[in-house]
Amino acid sequence: MMTDDFDDFTRGLQSQVYEETRKAYGQVAFERWLKPLYMGGMRDPDGYGRIIGTCGDRMEIFLRFEKNRVKEVMFQTDGCGSSTICGSFAAELAQGKSPEEITEITGELIISVLGGLPEEDRHCAFLAAQTLQEALDQYMKKQLKGNRSDK
Ligand code: FES
Repeated sequence: MMTDDFDDFTRGLQSQVYEETRKAYGQVAFERWLKPLYMGGMRDPDGYGRIIGTCGDRMEIFLRFEKNRVKEVMFQTDGCGSSTICGSFAAELAQGKSPEEITEITGELIISVLGGLPEEDRHCAFLAAQTLQEALDQYMKKQLKGNRSDK
């Protein structure tokens, strides 16, 4: 009986947290929070970005290219829920894109795909976008080096 009560209590608490999160972030972000796609690391990526935001949270993005398009993309963060959501959407937006197209993925774009973000969480989207650009930058530098050593 005690355990049943306790289970009910935890379930109640959990659904309260879920409800509050859904209200604050909206349905799209809420679903992504429950299921953060593209989360994880990658061995020997073609491009890698790692940035510590002003909030102290770390964001990492890994890119693998094939025929100059993103074949695989992953992200990792030790930050808050919204940095997970933003990292996941930054990754999703980068999937299948060329370097030129990736440069168009900004914090604003991530926020608009999410249907907005609470003011205090907007920086998480900019952190994700900045990390993605850093990963792209590393890929481009490698390409440049590769081309030079061919000559
Ligand atoms: Fe810093 Fe979310 S609070 S990335």
